[in-house]
Amino acid sequence: ARRIIIDTDPGKDDAVAILLALASPELEVMSLMAVAGNVPLARTETNARALLELGGRPDIPVFRGCERPLVRDPVTAKHVHGASGLEGLALPEPTCPAADGHAVDHLIAALNNTPAGTVTLCLLGPATNLAMALVKAPEIATRIQEVVWMAGARREGGNVTPAAEYNVHADPEAAAVLLRSRIPIVMIPLDLTHQVRLSKARLNRLRAIPTATAAAVVDLFSDAAGDPVREHGIEGAPLHDPCVVAYLLRPALFSGHAIHVAVETASPLTLGMTVADCFGVTGCDANVTWMSGIDAQGVFDLLSERLAAGPHR
Ligand code: BDR
Ligand code: CA
Repeated sequence: ARRIIIDTDPGKDDAVAILLALASPELEVMSLMAVAGNVPLARTETNARALLELGGRPDIPVFRGCERPLVRDPVTAKHVHGASGLEGLALPEPTCPAADGHAVDHLIAALNNTPAGTVTLCLLGPATNLAMALVKAPEIATRIQEVVWMAGARREGGNVTPAAEYNVHADPEAAAVLLRSRIPIVMIPLDLTHQVRLSKARLNRLRAIPTATAAAVVDLFSDAAGDPVREHGIEGAPLHDPCVVAYLLRPALFSGHAIHVAVETASPLTLGMTVADCFGVTGCDANVTWMSGIDAQGVFDLLSERLAAGPHR
């Protein structure tokens, strides 16, 4: 199985990504690292533990990460995920405690204590934890197999500002540290994740699956009347972060190419914008495999197949 560490700010779509990873025998989830993002760290960390219990894996450690971005004030996304981060889903308070130690130290130790190139980081939130680890222990850059990050936007523009996607916008300096690190990075931008929506038909397909994890996804993404939640006026919430796990499981569902990507950290108007050099006009070496094609139905089929395999209610 491929070893992964999930760095996350759950977050509704993070929750689905975590459940998908737990349900996939091809992946060995070493740990979860919580970071401040969609909601404050106290919530993302508790949510991470509660989701592991829901997914039947309370043995996986959850490490508390950074409470705030490197430079800027925290920006949450409670309007999307609710104050709890998992609005619509009532999970019991987790009984397993958080792991001892800071997520940044855990990441450094985990990478230094395993053969180089054998751990992949699934990055589902702002890059704060990883950037901190890179500043503290730059040698880890050569030890990570790959970072697969749901982040950025190009053709469609952003979801927080017209220019920027949330995970980059929430900590643009951390994104800049990561993009300059020479770690192999796969970026899955909004342009693709906006295609994987939980429409009414897809929600109904999940309703027919008799597992607690499928029911949880339905609860997260339907309103009180059972209709699909809307985002920016469009029916069916996008499943952003599950695309990261789907990419690891079925890379053939995606297509992309190597390009140089930089992040804007100065302009108030375009803060957090991912500037992708598609024609090589900067002369800079490629630092990212930028995903530009997705089989959205294939991603959804994979998710429903895996949720169906879990323990029945
Ligand atoms: C990203 O921002 C968060 O709100 C989601 O969890 C996802 O990681 C989408 O822009
Ligand atoms: Ca997220």
